[in-house]
Amino acid sequence: MGYKVAVVGATGAVGREMLTTLAERNFPADEIIALASARSAGGQVSYGEKDVLTIHDLAKHDFSTTDIALFSAGGDVAKEYAPKAGKAGCVVIDNSSAFRMDPDVPLVVPEVNGDAVGKYGKKNIIANPNCSTAQLVMALKPLHDTFGVKRVVVSTYQSVSGAGKDGMDELFNQTRAVYVNDPIEKTQFTKQIAFNVIPHIDVFMDDGFTKEEWKMRVETCKILDPDIEVVAQCVRVPVFVGHAEAVFIETKKPIDEQGATDVLRNFPGVIVIDHRADEGYVTPQESAGEDAVYVSRIRRDPTVKNGLVFWCVSDNLRKGAALNAVQIAETLIERFLKKAA
Ligand code: A2P
Repeated sequence: MGYKVAVVGATGAVGREMLTTLAERNFPADEIIALASARSAGGQVSYGEKDVLTIHDLAKHDFSTTDIALFSAGGDVAKEYAPKAGKAGCVVIDNSSAFRMDPDVPLVVPEVNGDAVGKYGKKNIIANPNCSTAQLVMALKPLHDTFGVKRVVVSTYQSVSGAGKDGMDELFNQTRAVYVNDPIEKTQFTKQIAFNVIPHIDVFMDDGFTKEEWKMRVETCKILDPDIEVVAQCVRVPVFVGHAEAVFIETKKPIDEQGATDVLRNFPGVIVIDHRADEGYVTPQESAGEDAVYVSRIRRDPTVKNGLVFWCVSDNLRKGAALNAVQIAETLIERFLKKAA
């Protein structure tokens, strides 16, 4: 007997990718329910190549008969509906930041801290990390296990799909407007994103960092190791899908390029593509639609005792969101959730 699975935010950029990922990975579901706002109810979304699902209104859904719900409808919706769903006995895997730092909610990247899924029971909620954090900890984990990562400096180059389908529309519309000399309209980003980069993602905090930068720090500590120091600069770039990161690490043990490459190559979900030649590295555009976290441009940092620099790229809608959420659901059913036959 399979599971009854709901996707909340099924019309959104991540929600659609969740449906695609569930279908691609043959998730053992007897029924998939597509939920969104009342505005979308009655419409349709694709599930896999052949099936089409009718969209239902989240506000009217009874979660007591749903086993697992993948939420990607933003923090406000999660805060209102995830606890209700959890109390009704449904396990929620939430992609928003609403519960990530809640001590009663595990924050999980299955390859890195899959055991933490077992702690879902207090609230029946499991949090999916921020997209930039997910790909970062995938690359850091094997390096940390072998060399002991002390400090991380990371600059991100984040695509507009991280801001949802409205962010993607804004890049498209502004790009078109530049070419046809129309006025530039902006609602999703603080400055023009077409032909530009914006060093500002999420709100400013008292110390001058943005919340996105804070998330990368605290989420890395929660998932990987509370003693790792992380400092981030997050930048939005005019790319539709795929986040890139320039990562500078300092380690406790001496680190060299070959040793780092070997442990990264052996880590599930990471692919090293690193040839010191034209095209010998991966770009965000090439990562779109792929599951892996790609690491390129691995080199020793000569300015510190034990240091390494690398470039890390992944599809933010996949490993950074939908794929990771589905992998959490897979870990949950394989190891922790027993369905009566
Ligand atoms: P809808 O299309 O009905 O507004 P994205 O992150 O790509 O912008 O997508 C956000 C997702 O969250 C969409 O599926 C959107 O549905 C959904 N959503 C937004 N607000 C609500 C709400 N109040 N109730 C249910 N779903 C919501």
